[in-house]
Amino acid sequence: MRQTPQISKLTSLRAGFAALSIFALSGLAAQAYAADPAPMAPAAEAKAAAPTKPKVDVAAGETLYNSGDATRGVVACITCHGPKGQSAVATWPKLSAQHAAYTAKQLKNFKEGTRANAIMMGMSMPLTEQDMINIGTFLSQQAPSQGVAQTKEALDLGKSIYGGGIASKGVPACAGCHSPNGAGIPAQYPRQGGQWAEYSYNQLVGFREGTRKNSTQMTTIATKLSDQEMKAVSDYMAGLH
Ligand code: HEC
Ligand code: HEC
Repeated sequence: MRQTPQISKLTSLRAGFAALSIFALSGLAAQAYAADPAPMAPAAEAKAAAPTKPKVDVAAGETLYNSGDATRGVVACITCHGPKGQSAVATWPKLSAQHAAYTAKQLKNFKEGTRANAIMMGMSMPLTEQDMINIGTFLSQQAPSQGVAQTKEALDLGKSIYGGGIASKGVPACAGCHSPNGAGIPAQYPRQGGQWAEYSYNQLVGFREGTRKNSTQMTTIATKLSDQEMKAVSDYMAGLH
């Protein structure tokens, strides 16, 4: 069976933009009468945003993840990230059980370049926001992948940083946002438990060096960590579940 490209998505997006510009115009009219127009603008934006919020199509997300879409140049994610988001090697992060909104945000960030990575920039380029949410939701429904800490440092230094931070350096406890068992807190704070240690370490370096500039919270934290501390806490997180 052959699949036909879905043009309806694009059409509804365009309709969304049209609705937005109508609201922008009515916002301008409102400003002419309001003494203090500032509070009017965000309200108008919120109303305009609601109808454009896409419906989630998990089956479409699964198909795109497993098979890609040659007609649009989408590469099958499974090639690197593995079946159900459980990748086989640390070069490629595990994506299973991650919060849908976080995954969608990363894909958007790769595409717009606030998270610089040559491979994923290419992979995310043909994806629409609808694709990102579909794939993210499919992945969020997959079982979390388990891992094990490899070093002794993980269990002393890594554990103490994760659970208690480093008071002398003003580093907050990772558990405060990523939760004590590493499952994260939807939708903002990503799951860390079971992730490859090398990948997490590379991300911390990326935040510190500025190649990943999509989170000021994490940049501030990573700037205060030494390489040794990054490695220890990354390894500890790999064993969390
Ligand atoms: C050729 C291998 C490859 C393919 C194919 C690939 N990726 Fe990736 N992906 C990577 C690499 C490498 C990284 C790590 C990038 C980094 O270090 O920032 C990554 C990172 C990610 C992340 C960030 C994970 C996190 O925890 O922040 C997401 C989300 C992601 N990929 C989704 C996808 C999706 C969706 C597809 C399919 C459309 C896909 N990838 C296809 C190699 C690949
Ligand atoms: C104040 C909340 C907060 C605290 C505390 C925090 N983080 Fe984060 N962390 C975040 C947010 C938010 C993100 C996602 C950023 C984004 O949207 O890309 C994140 C992302 C990450 C990532 C990237 C995950 C991935 O899949 O790519 C790593 C690694 C990480 N944090 C490690 C840590 C470590 C280690 C600590 C403790 C030293 C810590 N975080 C403390 C908020 C926090």
